[in-house]
Amino acid sequence: MSQQAPQKNLSAADIRARKGTAPLVCLTAYTTPVAQLADPHCDLVLVGDSVGMVLHGLPSTLDVTMEMMILHGRAATRGASRALVVVDMPFASYEESPAQAFRNAARLMAETGAGAVKLEGGRHMAETIRFLTDRGIPVMAHIGLTPQAVNAIGGYKVQGRGADADRIRADARAVEEAGAFAVVLEKVPAALADTITAEVDIPTVGIGASAGCDGQILVIDDMLGLFDAFKPKFVKRYAHLATDADRAIATYAKEVRARTFPAPEHIFADEGAAK
Ligand code: KIV
Repeated sequence: MSQQAPQKNLSAADIRARKGTAPLVCLTAYTTPVAQLADPHCDLVLVGDSVGMVLHGLPSTLDVTMEMMILHGRAATRGASRALVVVDMPFASYEESPAQAFRNAARLMAETGAGAVKLEGGRHMAETIRFLTDRGIPVMAHIGLTPQAVNAIGGYKVQGRGADADRIRADARAVEEAGAFAVVLEKVPAALADTITAEVDIPTVGIGASAGCDGQILVIDDMLGLFDAFKPKFVKRYAHLATDADRAIATYAKEVRARTFPAPEHIFADEGAAK
């Protein structure tokens, strides 16, 4: 009797090995059904701390907690059987010390079943990335625009313009040397993203960066047109689900008010006829 081996999710090492081959397809997901939708098409599913803004109505990612990431991480891993699931480390869960970062990263991995964590920061986080990777925790780095630093940066601005490009290049090299298996480049000029992609041996995953990156990531609610509070300029809408949902709910409300909504007795009558 032949038994099929259960399908295994891609590992951080698999993603790392994709450098210079087929582009990596990455999306966020925070729930089981959405992870199930993304999984067949994606190499990597990120349980981003964008969940705070997209699902919880928070004004930024700064109020996202470990408990929120664990809850959503657990839900997303249930829906992904193929893609690598990466969980974001929330603000203030890793910056204090490598030991604090290890404690929280280990908890995120153990309690969600995810295959890796992501954290924001370049050179100043290199020691922490090294500490985690040396202890068996795969780390995806995130440089360029780092939304958890929005107050220090003074807004969600493009990073690495002009002379500032060298800072971002140094960040990319630092996280690579520290052992990150991939690096997100957010909101940096395309030429800079292309330079970094050529300079580092780990995959670059762009968001508002360049089509030349080794992969791309988007917040799924943005690309499906579900999150309408604001739209970053770089987001392409592949669907307009909020508009569709509004139309569907308006139709339902109209039918309820007009008493044309199918009443249970009609449904039960049909069931009787079918017997
Ligand atoms: O939190 C998030 O969704 C992210 C992606 C936008 C890269 O960090």
